[in-house]
Amino acid sequence: MMRRLGPGKLVIASHNRGKIPEIAELLGPHGIEAVSAIDLDLPEPEEIGTTFVDNAMLKARAAADLSGLPAIADDSGICVDALSGRPGIYSARWAERTIDLPPDAAPGEAKVERDFRFAMQRVHDEVLAQGPEASRDAHFICALAVCWPEDGQCEVFEGRVDGLLVWPPRGDRGFGYDPMFQPIGYDQTFGEMEPGAKHAMSHRADAFRKLVAALIDTPSLP
Ligand code: IMP
Repeated sequence: MMRRLGPGKLVIASHNRGKIPEIAELLGPHGIEAVSAIDLDLPEPEEIGTTFVDNAMLKARAAADLSGLPAIADDSGICVDALSGRPGIYSARWAERTIDLPPDAAPGEAKVERDFRFAMQRVHDEVLAQGPEASRDAHFICALAVCWPEDGQCEVFEGRVDGLLVWPPRGDRGFGYDPMFQPIGYDQTFGEMEPGAKHAMSHRADAFRKLVAALIDTPSLP
Protein backbone atom coordinates (compact mmCIF):
# COMPACT_ATOMS: atom_id res chain seq x y z
CA MET A 1 0.00 0.00 0.00
CA MET A 2 1.19 3.48 -0.82
CA ARG A 3 2.53 5.47 2.14
CA ARG A 4 0.34 8.39 3.27
CA LEU A 5 1.56 11.92 3.70
CA GLY A 6 0.52 12.99 7.19
CA PRO A 7 0.14 16.47 8.67
CA GLY A 8 3.50 18.02 9.55
CA LYS A 9 6.44 19.56 7.80
CA LEU A 10 7.16 19.03 4.14
CA VAL A 11 9.98 20.64 2.20
CA ILE A 12 9.10 22.29 -1.09
CA ALA A 13 12.21 21.43 -3.07
CA SER A 14 12.18 24.52 -5.24
CA HIS A 15 14.03 27.80 -5.56
CA ASN A 16 11.39 29.19 -7.90
CA ARG A 17 9.61 32.09 -6.21
CA GLY A 18 6.64 31.69 -8.56
CA LYS A 19 6.06 28.03 -7.76
CA ILE A 20 6.68 27.98 -3.98
CA PRO A 21 3.53 29.96 -3.04
CA GLU A 22 1.45 27.97 -5.57
CA ILE A 23 2.52 24.67 -4.02
CA ALA A 24 2.24 25.98 -0.43
CA GLU A 25 -1.32 27.17 -1.17
CA LEU A 26 -2.27 23.72 -2.48
CA LEU A 27 -0.83 21.99 0.61
CA GLY A 28 -2.20 24.35 3.29
CA PRO A 29 -5.76 22.99 3.43
CA HIS A 30 -4.35 19.49 4.12
CA GLY A 31 -2.65 20.47 7.37
CA ILE A 32 0.79 20.26 5.80
CA GLU A 33 3.26 22.92 6.82
CA ALA A 34 5.44 23.85 3.89
CA VAL A 35 9.02 25.02 4.28
CA SER A 36 10.98 25.80 1.15
CA ALA A 37 14.46 24.83 0.01
CA ILE A 38 15.20 28.57 0.14
CA ASP A 39 14.13 28.76 3.84
CA LEU A 40 16.41 25.79 4.63
CA ASP A 41 19.23 27.10 2.48
CA LEU A 42 19.45 23.83 0.54
CA PRO A 43 21.58 23.78 -2.61
CA GLU A 44 19.84 23.44 -5.97
CA PRO A 45 20.71 20.10 -7.62
CA GLU A 46 21.59 20.13 -11.30
CA GLU A 47 18.60 19.06 -13.39
CA ILE A 48 20.29 16.38 -15.45
CA GLY A 49 17.17 14.24 -16.06
CA THR A 50 15.71 13.84 -19.54
CA THR A 51 12.03 13.88 -18.50
CA PHE A 52 9.83 15.96 -16.18
CA VAL A 53 9.44 12.89 -13.95
CA ASP A 54 13.22 12.29 -13.69
CA ASN A 55 13.89 15.91 -12.77
CA ALA A 56 11.08 16.09 -10.19
CA MET A 57 12.38 12.93 -8.50
CA LEU A 58 15.95 14.13 -8.53
CA LYS A 59 15.00 17.42 -6.80
CA ALA A 60 12.71 15.82 -4.19
CA ARG A 61 15.27 13.09 -3.42
CA ALA A 62 18.08 15.62 -2.87
CA ALA A 63 15.94 17.80 -0.55
CA ALA A 64 14.64 14.81 1.46
CA ASP A 65 18.16 13.43 1.97
CA LEU A 66 19.62 16.78 3.00
CA SER A 67 16.76 17.90 5.29
CA GLY A 68 15.68 14.57 6.80
CA LEU A 69 12.07 15.58 6.02
CA PRO A 70 9.68 14.39 3.31
CA ALA A 71 10.05 16.64 0.28
CA ILE A 72 7.93 17.57 -2.70
CA ALA A 73 9.33 18.80 -6.00
CA ASP A 74 7.73 20.02 -9.15
CA ASP A 75 9.24 19.87 -12.58
CA SER A 76 7.20 21.58 -15.17
CA GLY A 77 7.30 23.36 -18.46
CA ILE A 78 5.52 24.29 -21.63
CA CYS A 79 5.47 21.95 -24.63
CA VAL A 80 4.68 23.50 -28.02
CA ASP A 81 3.30 21.23 -30.75
CA ALA A 82 4.83 23.20 -33.64
CA LEU A 83 8.24 22.87 -31.94
CA SER A 84 7.96 19.10 -31.41
CA GLY A 85 7.36 19.63 -27.69
CA ARG A 86 10.11 22.16 -27.05
CA PRO A 87 11.05 23.95 -24.83
CA GLY A 88 9.63 21.19 -22.54
CA ILE A 89 12.07 20.37 -19.75
CA TYR A 90 14.21 23.28 -20.96
CA SER A 91 11.48 25.90 -20.34
CA ALA A 92 13.42 27.68 -17.59
CA ARG A 93 16.67 27.46 -19.54
CA TRP A 94 15.12 29.17 -22.60
CA ALA A 95 14.76 32.25 -20.40
CA GLU A 96 18.44 32.43 -19.49
CA ARG A 97 20.45 35.24 -20.92
CA THR A 98 23.92 36.50 -20.19
CA ILE A 99 24.08 40.05 -18.91
CA ASP A 100 26.63 42.53 -20.17
CA LEU A 101 29.25 43.08 -17.50
CA PRO A 102 31.12 46.29 -16.81
CA PRO A 103 34.46 46.59 -18.62
CA ASP A 104 36.37 46.05 -15.35
CA ALA A 105 34.74 42.62 -14.66
CA ALA A 106 37.16 39.77 -14.05
CA PRO A 107 37.86 37.54 -17.08
CA GLY A 108 35.53 34.56 -17.24
CA GLU A 109 33.00 36.26 -14.97
CA ALA A 110 29.46 36.01 -16.32
CA LYS A 111 26.05 36.85 -14.94
CA VAL A 112 23.02 34.93 -16.13
CA GLU A 113 19.47 36.07 -15.49
CA ARG A 114 16.05 34.69 -16.40
CA ASP A 115 13.93 36.85 -18.63
CA PHE A 116 10.58 35.36 -19.65
CA ARG A 117 9.74 38.18 -22.12
CA PHE A 118 12.83 36.99 -23.97
CA ALA A 119 11.80 33.31 -23.65
CA MET A 120 8.24 34.03 -24.87
CA GLN A 121 9.65 35.99 -27.82
CA ARG A 122 11.87 33.02 -28.69
CA VAL A 123 8.90 30.62 -28.60
CA HIS A 124 6.87 33.01 -30.76
CA ASP A 125 9.72 33.52 -33.27
CA GLU A 126 10.38 29.79 -33.58
CA VAL A 127 6.68 29.05 -34.16
CA LEU A 128 6.50 31.84 -36.78
CA ALA A 129 9.54 30.35 -38.50
CA GLN A 130 7.49 27.16 -39.04
CA GLY A 131 5.20 29.12 -41.40
CA PRO A 132 1.78 30.76 -41.20
CA GLU A 133 -0.08 27.45 -40.86
CA ALA A 134 1.94 26.30 -37.84
CA SER A 135 -0.19 24.99 -34.98
CA ARG A 136 -0.62 27.23 -31.93
CA ASP A 137 -1.42 24.22 -29.72
CA ALA A 138 0.62 23.93 -26.54
CA HIS A 139 0.34 22.32 -23.14
CA PHE A 140 1.90 22.69 -19.74
CA ILE A 141 3.09 19.55 -17.96
CA CYS A 142 3.80 19.23 -14.27
CA ALA A 143 5.42 16.24 -12.59
CA LEU A 144 5.13 16.27 -8.80
CA ALA A 145 7.38 13.93 -6.84
CA VAL A 146 7.21 13.21 -3.12
CA CYS A 147 10.24 11.47 -1.58
CA TRP A 148 10.75 10.31 1.99
CA PRO A 149 14.15 10.53 3.67
CA GLU A 150 14.35 7.19 5.46
CA ASP A 151 14.04 4.49 2.85
CA GLY A 152 14.29 6.07 -0.58
CA GLN A 153 10.58 5.82 -1.38
CA CYS A 154 9.36 8.25 -4.06
CA GLU A 155 5.95 8.68 -5.67
CA VAL A 156 5.38 10.75 -8.83
CA PHE A 157 2.19 12.22 -10.37
CA GLU A 158 1.85 13.99 -13.72
CA GLY A 159 -0.66 16.70 -14.65
CA ARG A 160 -1.42 18.53 -17.88
CA VAL A 161 -3.39 21.49 -19.19
CA ASP A 162 -3.99 22.13 -22.90
CA GLY A 163 -4.22 25.51 -24.52
CA LEU A 164 -3.24 27.86 -27.33
CA LEU A 165 -0.34 30.24 -27.68
CA VAL A 166 -1.37 33.87 -28.10
CA TRP A 167 0.64 36.84 -29.29
CA PRO A 168 1.26 39.45 -27.98
CA PRO A 169 1.43 38.16 -24.38
CA ARG A 170 -1.44 39.35 -22.18
CA GLY A 171 -1.59 39.95 -18.41
CA ASP A 172 0.95 40.46 -15.68
CA ARG A 173 -0.15 37.82 -13.19
CA GLY A 174 1.38 34.40 -12.70
CA PHE A 175 4.91 33.72 -13.87
CA GLY A 176 6.98 32.26 -16.67
CA TYR A 177 5.05 31.67 -19.89
CA ASP A 178 1.62 32.48 -18.34
CA PRO A 179 0.94 35.62 -20.43
CA MET A 180 1.18 33.73 -23.77
CA PHE A 181 -0.89 30.67 -22.76
CA GLN A 182 -4.68 30.60 -23.05
CA PRO A 183 -6.19 27.39 -21.71
CA ILE A 184 -8.83 25.66 -23.86
CA GLY A 185 -12.35 26.89 -23.04
CA TYR A 186 -11.20 30.23 -21.56
CA ASP A 187 -10.76 33.66 -23.12
CA GLN A 188 -8.14 34.85 -20.66
CA THR A 189 -4.49 33.85 -20.55
CA PHE A 190 -2.96 32.42 -17.37
CA GLY A 191 -1.34 35.85 -17.02
CA GLU A 192 -4.77 37.54 -16.89
CA MET A 193 -6.67 35.05 -14.70
CA GLU A 194 -7.33 35.44 -11.01
CA PRO A 195 -4.62 33.34 -9.32
CA GLY A 196 -7.33 31.19 -7.71
CA ALA A 197 -8.83 30.39 -11.11
CA LYS A 198 -5.46 29.38 -12.52
CA HIS A 199 -4.62 27.29 -9.46
CA ALA A 200 -7.91 25.41 -9.79
CA MET A 201 -7.28 24.19 -13.34
CA SER A 202 -3.55 24.28 -14.02
CA HIS A 203 -1.24 21.36 -14.81
CA ARG A 204 0.02 21.70 -11.21
CA ALA A 205 -3.56 21.44 -9.87
CA ASP A 206 -4.14 18.36 -12.04
CA ALA A 207 -0.99 16.64 -10.73
CA PHE A 208 -1.85 17.76 -7.22
CA ARG A 209 -5.35 16.27 -7.36
CA LYS A 210 -3.76 12.92 -8.24
CA LEU A 211 -1.25 13.28 -5.41
CA VAL A 212 -3.95 14.14 -2.85
CA ALA A 213 -6.09 11.19 -3.96
CA ALA A 214 -3.15 8.80 -3.61
CA LEU A 215 -1.23 10.14 -0.60
CA ILE A 216 -3.52 12.32 1.51
CA ASP A 217 -7.24 11.58 1.17
CA THR A 218 -8.61 8.96 3.49
CA PRO A 219 -9.03 5.80 1.43
CA SER A 220 -12.67 4.71 1.17
CA LEU A 221 -13.54 1.47 2.89
CA PRO A 222 -14.19 -1.53 0.65
P1 IMP B 1 11.64 24.10 -13.56
O1 IMP B 1 11.82 24.92 -12.32
O2 IMP B 1 12.89 23.56 -14.13
O3 IMP B 1 10.58 23.05 -13.42
O4 IMP B 1 11.15 25.16 -14.61
C1 IMP B 1 9.88 25.19 -15.08
C2 IMP B 1 9.72 26.39 -15.97
O5 IMP B 1 8.55 26.12 -16.77
C3 IMP B 1 9.39 27.65 -15.21
O6 IMP B 1 10.51 28.43 -14.94
C4 IMP B 1 8.45 28.35 -16.17
O7 IMP B 1 9.18 28.98 -17.13
C5 IMP B 1 7.72 27.22 -16.87
N1 IMP B 1 6.47 26.97 -16.16
C6 IMP B 1 6.16 25.91 -15.37
N2 IMP B 1 4.92 26.04 -14.86
C7 IMP B 1 4.45 27.21 -15.31
C8 IMP B 1 3.23 27.90 -15.10
O8 IMP B 1 2.32 27.51 -14.37
N3 IMP B 1 3.14 29.07 -15.76
C9 IMP B 1 4.10 29.58 -16.55
N4 IMP B 1 5.25 28.99 -16.76
C10 IMP B 1 5.44 27.81 -16.14
